[in-house]
Amino acid sequence: MKRTLSGIQPSGKLHIGNYFGMMQPMLQQMDNSELYVFIVDLHALTSVHDRERLRTGTLEAAADFLALGLDPNRCIFWVQSDVPEVCELSWLLSTMTPMGLLERCHAYKDKVAKNIAASHGLFAYPVLMAADILLYQSEIVPVGKDQKQHVEVARDIAQRFNNTFGETFVLPEPLISESTAIVPGVDGQKMSKSYDNTIPIFLEEKPLRKRVMSVQTDATPVEDPKDPDNCNLYALLKLFASNAKMQEVHDLYVNGGAAYGYLKQDLFELINEQFSAARAKKKELLDNQDYLRQILKEGAEKAREKATVTMDLVRDRMGLKY
Ligand code: ADP
Ligand code: TRP
Repeated sequence: MKRTLSGIQPSGKLHIGNYFGMMQPMLQQMDNSELYVFIVDLHALTSVHDRERLRTGTLEAAADFLALGLDPNRCIFWVQSDVPEVCELSWLLSTMTPMGLLERCHAYKDKVAKNIAASHGLFAYPVLMAADILLYQSEIVPVGKDQKQHVEVARDIAQRFNNTFGETFVLPEPLISESTAIVPGVDGQKMSKSYDNTIPIFLEEKPLRKRVMSVQTDATPVEDPKDPDNCNLYALLKLFASNAKMQEVHDLYVNGGAAYGYLKQDLFELINEQFSAARAKKKELLDNQDYLRQILKEGAEKAREKATVTMDLVRDRMGLKY
């Protein structure tokens, strides 16, 4: 069984892009891999400097995962900062990471271009992510397309380390599901918390409907043919509707007769149907925070056992044991 690992930042409301890009592919790995799932609170510190937001965000992220079907008995599930070895490894790896490798990272360049203050933490973000991946000797890393480069950086750092100090790390590979690699937001750009264009999956019915109705479409009249491949409403529907329903919708686009208002209502109903049970479950979980803390604590203990084995080897390889 392959060892699979992925994490998500507790920095905002889980949205449809996160779900299809990372969460669903990861949940699908539960039965056929040794699964490691964690909440990356240390990474979130590159953008969240608000104690309450981070604390509640972390518990919410835990509830998100469990409500959507993550079974803590079939995986290791924890909070990143509960295994402090990751920070030590991050430093050790940073001494092996060329500046140019980090300067080329799109996520960093995009944030700087958007005037998000570039701290050292933001620049070093991919090194901490490499430490996450390598600490657990992960083979497969399910992520959305935007994180592919970060997994490649981790692989590159692992290779450099192995070449310098001898075989130490497993080389990780990203797992990207092509059909959901980039889920569009209500404005047609990539759905992202930072663009304020998301459809959060746990919205209550009313605000959810309002959000779906705000999906931007063009002004083509109902009767006119439309191009399904250039329509974000179509792309979103495709994530939720059955093949038979999509065939019908496709015919309406191509032959004329697709009414955006009705299709948005369909999309709202499909999203609501798919997530309403999880929404109720999430509420229940958040009412029982001690249970969430207990699960995360047990997960951290198991994760730490694995981390200790890797760190022992790494320290030895680098000459830190004397
Ligand atoms: P955001 O862009 O909203 O801040 P994150 O960077 O926290 O989202 O991403 C968490 C996970 O969800 C990552 O694996 C990322 O690749 C995936 N993801 C985020 N947005 C999308 C999207 N629009 N389409 C597909 N996957 C996505
Ligand atoms: N950088 C990832 C994101 O923003 C989150 C993350 C941190 C991650 N460490 C990881 C994902 C390790 C996969 C593996 O989505």
